[in-house]
This record gives sequence, C-alpha cells and structure tokens, in this order.
Amino acid sequence: MEATGRTALFVCSVLFFLTEINSEFIHIPSLVLHGIEGKPLLLFVETRFPLEEAEIQGTWSHTKPSGTRTTLVTFTKQTAIIDMMYRNHLLFREPNVSLRIRELDKDDEGDYHLSLNIEFHNKTGLVVKKERTVRVTVDVPVSTPVIVKSPSHAVIEDKANVTWTCSVQRGTRVVFQWLRDNVALAPSDRYHFSQNNSTLLISPVQKEDKGNYRCLASNWVTQVQHSRPMDLTVYYGPYNLEVNSGQGLRTGEVFTINPGELVFFECQADSNPPNSYVWISKRHNATQIITEGPRLEVRSYRLAQAEEYLCRAFNNVTQKQDEAQFTLVVASLGTGKEKHTQDAGSVSPLAAITVCSLFVIGCMLLFFLRRSCHPKKVLMNIYNRPFSEQKRPHRSALAGHEDATEDFGIYEFVSIPGKMDSAQASCRSLSRLESIQDMHTTIYDVIRHVPETPSHSLLN
Ligand SMILES: *[C@@H]1O[C@H](CO)[C@@H](O)[C@H](O)[C@H]1NC(C)=O
Ligand SMILES: *[C@@H]1O[C@H](CO)[C@@H](O)[C@H](O)[C@H]1NC(C)=O
Ligand SMILES: *[C@@H]1O[C@H](CO)[C@@H](O)[C@H](O)[C@H]1NC(C)=O
Ligand SMILES: *[C@@H]1O[C@H](CO)[C@@H](O)[C@H](O)[C@H]1NC(C)=O
Ligand SMILES: *[C@@H]1O[C@H](CO)[C@@H](O)[C@H](O)[C@H]1NC(C)=O
Ligand SMILES: *[C@@H]1O[C@H](CO)[C@@H](O)[C@H](O)[C@H]1NC(C)=O
Ligand SMILES: *[C@@H]1O[C@H](CO)[C@@H](O)[C@H](O)[C@H]1NC(C)=O
Repeated sequence: MEATGRTALFVCSVLFFLTEINSEFIHIPSLVLHGIEGKPLLLFVETRFPLEEAEIQGTWSHTKPSGTRTTLVTFTKQTAIIDMMYRNHLLFREPNVSLRIRELDKDDEGDYHLSLNIEFHNKTGLVVKKERTVRVTVDVPVSTPVIVKSPSHAVIEDKANVTWTCSVQRGTRVVFQWLRDNVALAPSDRYHFSQNNSTLLISPVQKEDKGNYRCLASNWVTQVQHSRPMDLTVYYGPYNLEVNSGQGLRTGEVFTINPGELVFFECQADSNPPNSYVWISKRHNATQIITEGPRLEVRSYRLAQAEEYLCRAFNNVTQKQDEAQFTLVVASLGTGKEKHTQDAGSVSPLAAITVCSLFVIGCMLLFFLRRSCHPKKVLMNIYNRPFSEQKRPHRSALAGHEDATEDFGIYEFVSIPGKMDSAQASCRSLSRLESIQDMHTTIYDVIRHVPETPSHSLLN
C-alpha cells in the first residue's frame, strides 16, 4: 500500500519534471485578455530559455470572430516583418516575443496565435515547436446607469404593472442587475426581465414590491456601477385588521366588561394610505354608525346584554375594505369589589376550589330536592348566522384559536334562577361569573370574519 503510494508519487514527480521541461520554454500568464477600446494592450510572452543559446523563428497571427485570419508579424531573433497594414498599429521588438497593440479598437478582438520554432545551439537539427493562443476582447467601460420607472407615480396593488428600465450612456457587453432594498431580484411569476436584464417588468405590482430600487451595471472592463436608488410606492390594504382593548375580559371575540366601566377599543390594519375607520353597532339587525376613527370608547351599564360591534377599515385609494366584528357583554367580573379585568386566565386556585366545593354541596342539596323540583334546563343553542361562508382573504387577528370555521355562531347559555341544574355547569364558568343571580343570560359570540365587500362608501 505504502509502496504503491510512493511509486505513484515518484511517477508523478517524473512526469511533472518532464512536462515542466517540455512545455515551459515559453509562458503566457493569461490566455484571455479584456482590453479597453482606445487603450494599448500587451500580449506578454515570457521566454524561459536563454535566447543567446538558441535560434528562434515565429509568427503572430490574428483570427477575427468572423473567422478571417491575418499574419501580423513574422520574426526571427534578428529581424521582424510586420504586415504593412498594421505597421502603425502594432509594436514588436525582436528578440522579445511579446506583441503590443498600440490602440485597441473593436476590430482587434479575436484570437491571437503565436507559433514559435526553437533550435538550441547545443542540439542543432532538432527544432522544437511551441504554440499558444490568446483571446482578446475589446470593450467600452460602462458609465453610471440611470433608472426610469413607468409609470412614474405611485401604483395600486393588483391593478398596475411597473416597468423599470436601466440604461447606460456608454458601455459594451453590459451586465445588468436589479436590487430592491439591496437584495438582488430574480425572475419569478411576476418579475420579468428583458434578455440583457436592462428592463424589469413587475406584473401585477403587489404590496411586497414596495421599496428602494437600484440597478447595477458592469462589464469585463468596469467594476459594478450603481444607479441612484428610486422608490416604488404601492397603495395596498387594508390587511390584518385587528380589534384590541387593554381592558375587559376577552374570550375569543367576546369582550366582557364590568358595568359602568369605560373601555377603549382600538382598530388597526396595515394599509397605504392609512385607512379610515368607522365603528358600527349592530342591534336588532339594524346597523348604526357610532363613531369614526381608530378608537371606540364604550361605557355600558346594561347588564347581561350582548351588543355587537363592527370595526370597518376602508382604504379610499385601493377601494378595499375589511371588517372585524366583536361582541360586548356587560357582567360583573370577579366579586364586583375589585375587578381583575386584564387577565382571563388568572383565576386563583383558592377561588376555584371554593367554588367547586360550593358546587358539590349544591349538587348534593339538589339531589335531595330533586323529586320535588321541576326538571331544570340548560339550553345551548347555536344560531347559525345567515351569511354563507365566503372566501376570507385574511383571518381576523381576533381569533383566539387558529381555525375555528365550524365554531361560528352564537352560543347562548341560559339558566333559570332557582331551577338551575348545576350538574351541567362547570366549575370554571362558575368561578368566572360568581354572582349567578345577576346573570340570566350569557352570550358567547364567536365571531365570524365578515367577508370583504368592496364599497365606495363607508356609510352604506
Ligand atoms: C518584452 O517587452 C515587454 C514590453 O514590451 C517587457 O515588459 C518585457 O520585459 C520584455 N521582455 C524581455 C525579455 O525583455
Ligand atoms: C541545451 O541548452 C538548453 C538551454 O541552455 C538546455 O535547457 C538543454 O538542457 C541543453 N540540452 C542538452 C542536450 O544539453
Ligand atoms: C399588466 O400586464 C399584464 C400582462 O402581464 C396585462 O395583461 C395587463 O393588462 C397589464 N395591466 C396594465 C394595467 O397595464
Ligand atoms: C439590452 O437589450 C435591449 C433590447 O432587448 C437593447 O435595446 C439594449 O441596447 C441592450 N442594452 C445593452 C447595454 O446591451
Ligand atoms: C439576468 O438576471 C438573472 C438573475 O438576476 C441572471 O440569472 C441572468 O444570468 C441574467 N442574464 C443576463 C443576460 O445577464
Ligand atoms: C335579521 O336579518 C336576517 C336576514 O338578514 C333574518 O333572517 C333574521 O331573522 C333577522 N333577525 C331579526 C332578529 O330580525
Ligand atoms: C382618502 O382618505 C384620506 C384620509 O384617510 C383623505 O385625506 C383623502 O382626501 C381621501 N381621498 C379621497 C380621494 O377620498
């Protein structure tokens, strides 16, 4: 194993040594040269043998991209013949094999072929032939790119297309690239680039296309040039409509507040330009606009009444609107002495135990009284709403749980005081609504997101 490795290494070294000797009489550092129009270019050749111990003879020829081949120079160690057509264009100083082009022009592009014969003085009669090809490109440096947006004004999402055009005054073989907020853009469903990437069509424009656009231009002879940045403003929304309140006890879309408590509700949605908001009260199937603006202030004394409210956000540019509905229930929270309005989950364990014990005692009492009393009832009705399930573009952020499509409806929990069947009530609900006698009805309304219906007026 080790021996094989050593042998392989040895063979390799020998081969390397031999090729080194054979191929490295001449050396050209770069076989591809990117020249600048109007500038000189040196096709540098390093001879790795003592010129004084050999005779050389060779030619430089040029093959244009079209295929035409011209012999430019024929030379020996002592003399050089330059094609008369190129006398003033080329510089060749024998015995130096390098070729210099004085002033590049587009026609100088192509392959430059060096063919060199070497005959060493110590080994006359053996001519070594060496050949090399150097590819030359000639380009014009790229000037600072300029971008143009069409249309130049702000656009409405889903309704408009935007075309970005990047142009340079000077420059050949320009490579364009587009950035938005300094992130490179790539082709996609909505992003269409022209063949050389000089134009970008966004069709149709959407909210996420807003930002700061920039075009980069470069070529082989120019570092990346940045255009000035330009903003794209997109009118969009409303999105993610949400109703929040710092007060009250919240269960899904039901807010429970203490009687007489002043509660503020805040309506928010993402939109450009900013939405206008209206608050609507729904009572007995009739809707009524209460106030405008993002904030609603409610103080209610009407106990055990479920009131439905609606926040409607409207973007008057996109002509889109969104609504979020919620129910307000007035009930004595806690003992009525102090209100623990903030935290729905923070029912103290002691209170829960107390209530559960009372509940068990109550059960036992009821069990003994059972035969003399009428059957008691607990009703649980689900009123399915009249409107049908339509597409819901955004899930209301009010939803307490992820997908509750089946849960929509009004859950009514009715208890008849004195005839209550406690066996059906849970400890938990009792602990929340301690003064059951106050409460005749508790309505839990799980809110459905009202489907978006484009409208020109908020007031319809
Ligand atoms: C050949 O000429 C080039 C410039 O024309 C120079 O850089 C190079 O050193 C020369 N080589 C020799 C061996 O003189
Ligand atoms: C002849 O001279 C060249 C250059 O000095 C050298 O590389 C080569 O090894 C010599 N050949 C022989 C056979 O001596
Ligand atoms: C946007 O481009 C699409 C094709 O990509 C075209 O159907 C539509 O009419 C264009 N919209 C506008 C407003 O130019
Ligand atoms: C890019 O391509 C367009 C046509 O698709 C052409 O008009 C434009 O000159 C090209 N730009 C550059 C710098 O090559
Ligand atoms: C155009 O841009 C895309 C991505 O930005 C790139 O993949 C592609 O090579 C570019 N095409 C040209 C001709 O520069
Ligand atoms: C409310 O209106 C719906 C139809 O829009 C109707 O089915 C329902 O009975 C009405 N409810 C009341 C209480 O008027
Ligand atoms: C759109 O609403 C804004 C306020 O939200 C208002 O300043 C603007 O005048 C309205 N524009 C139109 C066209 O109604």
